[in-house]
Amino acid sequence: MCGIVAYTGDGRAVPYLLDGLARLEYRGYDSAGVAVHSGAGIDVVRRTGKLAALESAAELDALGGTTGIGHTRWATHGKPCDANAHPHVDAARRIALVHNGIIENHHELRAELEAGGVEFGSDTDTEVVAQLIGHLMARDPDLRLADAVRTAAKRLDGAFALAVIAVDDPDLVVGARRAAPLVAGTSGAAGLLASDIPAILAETRDVVVLDDDQVVEVRGPDLVVTDIDGEVVEARRTHITWDLEAAEKGGYETFMLKEIHEQPRVLADTIGGRLDTDTGQLVLDELRTDEHGLKTVDKVFVVACGTSYHSGLVAKYAIEHWARIPVEIDVASEFRYRDPVLDAQTLVIGVSQSGETADTIAACRYAQELKAKVVAVTNVVDSTMAREADAVIYTHAGPEVSVAASKTFTCQIAALDLLALWLAQVRGTLYSSEVATLVDQMHRLPDQVAAVLADLTEVEAEAAVWKDAADAFYLGRGPAFPTALEGALKMKEISYLHAEAYPSGELKHGPLALIDDDVPVVSVVTASKVHAKTLSNVAEVAARGGRIVLVANPGTDFGGIEPDRVFEVPETHELFAPVVDSVVLQVLAYYVATARGCNVDKPRNLAKTVTVE
Ligand code: M6R
Repeated sequence: MCGIVAYTGDGRAVPYLLDGLARLEYRGYDSAGVAVHSGAGIDVVRRTGKLAALESAAELDALGGTTGIGHTRWATHGKPCDANAHPHVDAARRIALVHNGIIENHHELRAELEAGGVEFGSDTDTEVVAQLIGHLMARDPDLRLADAVRTAAKRLDGAFALAVIAVDDPDLVVGARRAAPLVAGTSGAAGLLASDIPAILAETRDVVVLDDDQVVEVRGPDLVVTDIDGEVVEARRTHITWDLEAAEKGGYETFMLKEIHEQPRVLADTIGGRLDTDTGQLVLDELRTDEHGLKTVDKVFVVACGTSYHSGLVAKYAIEHWARIPVEIDVASEFRYRDPVLDAQTLVIGVSQSGETADTIAACRYAQELKAKVVAVTNVVDSTMAREADAVIYTHAGPEVSVAASKTFTCQIAALDLLALWLAQVRGTLYSSEVATLVDQMHRLPDQVAAVLADLTEVEAEAAVWKDAADAFYLGRGPAFPTALEGALKMKEISYLHAEAYPSGELKHGPLALIDDDVPVVSVVTASKVHAKTLSNVAEVAARGGRIVLVANPGTDFGGIEPDRVFEVPETHELFAPVVDSVVLQVLAYYVATARGCNVDKPRNLAKTVTVE
């Protein structure tokens, strides 16, 4: 997730760009940059690191132009460095461009452009778009910038919001979008573009929200919106009534709620572009089979803390089931003190949203000392774990502001499921066609999560019942057990309601003594091979009078159990189900926390990143 902003008008562009970027920094802070039309050419200033590094760049003082674009980056392709920072220019510096999103066919386009003699200056998918537009304009000197953008957009697979300026049209900014947000607005003699409303809210409250495959030409106060074929379309105009703080949360009350609702989009980013349509193979570019010897590992350890540990548990089920490799999972703080048996044939998967959790870093370092191979699964590009690991798989969840993990958890599961399927593919424990079928099923997850988020009335009603509860239990079997664990952790950390999770069959071995009429018990009973057994465990609870809340697929026969509440979620493979099922439990925790008056984004005693052991 990155932030883009553009200005064209009668004022100096730089202050508007910097102000807009400051409002978008929550979308990424690996690097920042601006490109401004000087009248004679395009000047670009880029800096690695937070926006402050760009703001203090002396070169900015010389940029007096009135048309420009700006970007704040959350690295996906290519590490954070000045060369990979946006804006990117084409080889002839005809155009400059900023981008948010992921271009899935960038390899193919890069190869094509390189074959035509284009030389690249960065590792990014974005530069491919800049070079493509520049190349089209070089081939046809009469081609207008907007036409070149439309032609290029037709060649792109994936997600993009773009803002582009051209040397030969000093007052024009062209924007385009597909599956990444882009808004436009005007203020006096100026026109503005941005990834998100807060970036332009100081200038205007009347915004145009672009739809997929629309292109906008902004020339001062004139905005023309077209479809991808150049036909003028009616712009979708909205008047914004929120204040700035609310706008930064996208109209949601808290960052956590916003991040919960971002899940369909970020899951699509994590899962997308992994199937090679020519070969039908699952591609994880990040893992080069020969180099990392992953074909021959005979044991896997997963090390992680907190929520990441829970996604790691799903990975254990997935790798053992599909790739048939034994997997142990450790809370990272325990790992190196228990003298685990590992060697050069061992794969250690370190899972961490931040990539900076001290215990997980230490566990990975310990594994490397013992010659094991380490793969990091993290959300933060160039984090310590990412740098030190032998290979990295990034979740593409974008920055997570709320202390409680939500979107990064479901993206971790998606990334780990992909890793498990990839291991199965390279080790031959699944046919490629089986892998492709499963990845296809994964592609439905974003829509399934969106369906859950579309109707939360049952969850909200249940939260009202839980408001004054003292304890709650969460049950699940197989891959639904990590879902239960994560549901209970979410409830504890943001609502301060005591919640425990157990494998469904375990409750009768002790904790059942705590169940009475006042205790809510959530059971995850979505489709699985132990579905009938899970329902028997629910019946044991029902017989003791607990409040029965079920997470279930539509049409489920509960075998005589009369639940107090059912949260219906779409059906998927049981190893993907934690992605869909967890969302409803995140929302339950959220509503209980708000009903209890808790500060959801900043729970007491907790920090987003735990850098001490
Ligand atoms: O950045 P990490 O994923 O390594 O963080 C691990 C835990 O500290 C983290 O998941 C914590 O449990 C969250 N607050 C959960 O919401």
